[in-house]
Amino acid sequence: MKLTTIILAAGKGTRMKSNLPKVLHKVCGRPMLEHVIDAARNAGSEREIVVIGSGADEVEKSITDVEFALQAEQLGTGHAVKMAKDKINDMEGTVMILCGDTPLVSADLLEKFIENHEQTKATATVLTAMMPDATGYGRIVRNQSGSVDKIVEHKDATEEELQIHEVNSGMYCFDVKALFDALEKVTNDNAQGEYYLTDVLGIIREQGLLINAFVTNAFTQILGINSRYQLATAERILRQRKNIELMDSGVTILDPDSTFIDYDVEIGRDSTILPFTYLETGTKIGENCSIGPNCRLQNTKIGNNVTMQFVYSHDAEVDDDVVIGPYVHLRPGTKINKKVKIGNFVEVKNSNIGEGSKLPHLQYIGDTDMGTNVNVGCGTVTCNYDGKKKYRTTIGDNVFVGCNTNLVAPVTVNNGAYIAAGSTINQDIPENNLAIARSRQVNKPAWKDRRQQ
Ligand code: UD1
Ligand code: CA
Repeated sequence: MKLTTIILAAGKGTRMKSNLPKVLHKVCGRPMLEHVIDAARNAGSEREIVVIGSGADEVEKSITDVEFALQAEQLGTGHAVKMAKDKINDMEGTVMILCGDTPLVSADLLEKFIENHEQTKATATVLTAMMPDATGYGRIVRNQSGSVDKIVEHKDATEEELQIHEVNSGMYCFDVKALFDALEKVTNDNAQGEYYLTDVLGIIREQGLLINAFVTNAFTQILGINSRYQLATAERILRQRKNIELMDSGVTILDPDSTFIDYDVEIGRDSTILPFTYLETGTKIGENCSIGPNCRLQNTKIGNNVTMQFVYSHDAEVDDDVVIGPYVHLRPGTKINKKVKIGNFVEVKNSNIGEGSKLPHLQYIGDTDMGTNVNVGCGTVTCNYDGKKKYRTTIGDNVFVGCNTNLVAPVTVNNGAYIAAGSTINQDIPENNLAIARSRQVNKPAWKDRRQQ
């Protein structure tokens, strides 16, 4: 039978004090709901039904490849599960229930949890952990023989129950039929006036059916995110996990505490990441690179043996053996080919820089196709915009661009051409020509003496 997962994500997220639905807040560069969906899938779930309500449109737009069930009014977690009933009408067997606000749960833990549920043949299994600070969580109340009696929400708990540190993770495996039968019996007679999913456990036990707790000793896996502080905590934990994973695969991270790497970033062996570096989603780095200090790379693909420091790059591509920085901005649509050198204080936008070319200091290169082994002098600017439209600059191979050149696009500088320093080039330059486009210098003899008279 196909394992189906229902993920609750309709809540208002009041405690976040945000206009963005809580489950779309990002942890390690990705909405927390997506972390949960991913963990479920990697644990063997084959179908995911996400219950949405508060901010439903936004959630539906940003999450793909799942089914949605609408909970128009948020009357509690029990009510939310009921909204998915139509979608699993005549299903039999196990359904897993997760919350969209527990992004730290791993596929590995869920896999063991599902396996435990199947093995014990329980009607319901709840995933629990001993939580150092149990504030806000539902408490697991066990009877004298140690088996689970019921779950009591923090707000409904007695003084004695509040002392319990074993908490409900909000993750469960249920026999589908027993779950929906029990949900019919849930009332909203509690401190929050909500239909609690947690009440289902007590109801199932009262029917004489087996309910079980699967206790994990990794409490960080089940942390629920209700506030911005908890969000920051989750961020720290996931980043640490990502850094450890990368280090285990052969990447040196000089100072993991000041290195921020998103969940999907890939880095090759023997690359070194220096402090104050942000590697954001879509970024891929090859082997033997040295990245940082102070690089921010967003959706940037980098080859092998690349050195970068003090660089901001987005939607760009860098080939092998390139040296970039300090103080370089690579903007979208930029492709830097092998053995190029770029830096200090250089901006490149929507351009292709050919193999072995050099942009060593103070250039703006935009909308340019540059050949191989071009040497661009300090202070060169492509004038790509006439106030209305953008135009391209084409530069051939082995071109020498003198310092402080303006290239007024559209313009083509053919192979082997030389441009004299200080030129403003607005006409094409034929192959191997020298172009001088500046007024000739005039020296006035003894001018100083005359001035002083
Ligand atoms: C819930 C559990 C609590 C558990 C904790 C674990 C209940 C009653 N309580 O409390 O025992 O320890 O999670 O993190 O289940 N949601 C809906 N519709 C609603 C209400 C909530 O879809 O009407 C969704 C939320 O979007 C959220 C999840 O259910 O993803 C949990 O809701 P939340 O309000 O965060 O519950 P907690 O108070 O954290
Ligand atoms: Ca919660």
